[in-house]
Amino acid sequence: MIDILKKKVALSALKYISRNSIIGIGSGSTMKYFIKALSSIRSLIIGAVASSIQSYNYLRKLNIPIIELNNLNSVIDIYIDSADEVNNNLEMIKGGGGALTREKIISSASKKFLCIIDESKYVKILGISFPLPIEVIPMALKFVSQELRKLGGIPKFRRNFVTDNGNFIIDVFNLQIYQPVFLEKYINNIPGVVCVGLFAIRKANTLLISDINGVRKII
Ligand code: 5RP
Repeated sequence: MIDILKKKVALSALKYISRNSIIGIGSGSTMKYFIKALSSIRSLIIGAVASSIQSYNYLRKLNIPIIELNNLNSVIDIYIDSADEVNNNLEMIKGGGGALTREKIISSASKKFLCIIDESKYVKILGISFPLPIEVIPMALKFVSQELRKLGGIPKFRRNFVTDNGNFIIDVFNLQIYQPVFLEKYINNIPGVVCVGLFAIRKANTLLISDINGVRKII
């Protein structure tokens, strides 16, 4: 059922794509559905900027033109991505797939962020059901974990996983995130942290949520 809802919301995002635009592309299973849908209108867009090696490879496989962020002379028109949790202020937890750092870079380099989720990810308080992913420099794993414990979190090293940037992920359980912007800044300031999977400073502009009745939009 979840897969049907992911596909439904991914298809509904197509109407947000304008002719001759540059699209930032997120990562994960919902985005796989979106990339597939995007391939049907690939000739209308200038190109796509990928946020992970996985999305890059899939864009390539479907012959969608790819642009490197460093080669862009203009701004990315719209960033499209899913999330692990979203609250009603359109702040998010992302990074379940471990691509959070590049996702944050590309979303921050985009004019608009369209987030697409199924209803299971729409929550009142971030961090209760889904742990907060944090990308860290490998040699700082222990130090960063100790700092996160001071916040009341339970940090867990994501085993057998290395990010596209060659770093590790810590998933932090037991959080109730009432001040996402504050926590995002605080964790980003811990030495050794590359990026925290809280997207509150660069939150979504528009959220599409699919459920059995259809797709609703929140601005
Ligand atoms: C990857 C992400 C994804 O957007 C998030 O994990 C949701 O993935 P899916 O669409 O597979 O449920 O943040 O880093």
